[in-house]
Amino acid sequence: MAEFRLPKNSRIRKGRAHPPESGQRLKAFKVYRYDPDSGANPRFDTYTIDLDKCGPMVLDALIKIKNEIDPTLTFRRSCREGICGSCSMNMDGRNGLACTTPIADTKGEVQITPLPHMEVVKDLVPDLTHAYAQYALIQPWLKAATPAPSGRERLQSPADRAKLDGLYECILCFCCSTSCPSYWWNQDRFLGPAVLLQAYRFLADSRDEMTGERLDQLEDPYRLYRCHTIMNCANVCPKGLNPAKAIAETKKLIAERAA
Ligand code: SF4
Ligand code: SF4
Ligand code: FES
Repeated sequence: MAEFRLPKNSRIRKGRAHPPESGQRLKAFKVYRYDPDSGANPRFDTYTIDLDKCGPMVLDALIKIKNEIDPTLTFRRSCREGICGSCSMNMDGRNGLACTTPIADTKGEVQITPLPHMEVVKDLVPDLTHAYAQYALIQPWLKAATPAPSGRERLQSPADRAKLDGLYECILCFCCSTSCPSYWWNQDRFLGPAVLLQAYRFLADSRDEMTGERLDQLEDPYRLYRCHTIMNCANVCPKGLNPAKAIAETKKLIAERAA
């Protein structure tokens, strides 16, 4: 379970229960509503919809609510099939992608909040400015000093390519980082599992020639070593990735070069 945190100095105020839809399979969604620009405290609004008139995923329910009941509800989404990472949010205490989370997997009234421990832009939209700045810090692109063979791409053996499996699939949804207690309390300095998995993706790439510089940048009591192997990150990743393992491999590379 990921702890939800209210914005600083705020309390939950009474929300609105919208009139329920008529139908046979009614389901209530209790959705976090917050507009920092309004100066008003956050609230939870309740929307009750008929699942016979809705698609199967939590995102389908949110789109239905926005289209048919309350156009002011704000959330991010794009691909609707677990590829873009933009619909990550917390559903019943667990981070995930709204577009790949079946409503059938939720019980009773579903509580939906933004990703935990992040500033909120509006409603279910977290502010990812800091997370993306951390991503930029690790320089997430191939870096090589030697020029590519004339007129050809840099080749990689199938075995070397296979080392990127379990890393390249990351969609930067930040479900993992925002489930990580170390990231909650130290996100100003700890890079968090999403960014550290991305960092290892380039360390593991046989075409990258900046391993030493990359490890120098990560060898820091906070940036890397605030991971205490609690494993929330691996448990919650909607793509089935294991950031904790990538972090352990990075620590191993640092230990090996010191030996
Ligand atoms: S294993 Fe490390 S990165 Fe993953 S949740 Fe735990 S402390 Fe955070
Ligand atoms: S490792 Fe998984 S949970 Fe973390 S950002 Fe990547 S896809 Fe999302
Ligand atoms: S809308 Fe793209 S991952 Fe959910």
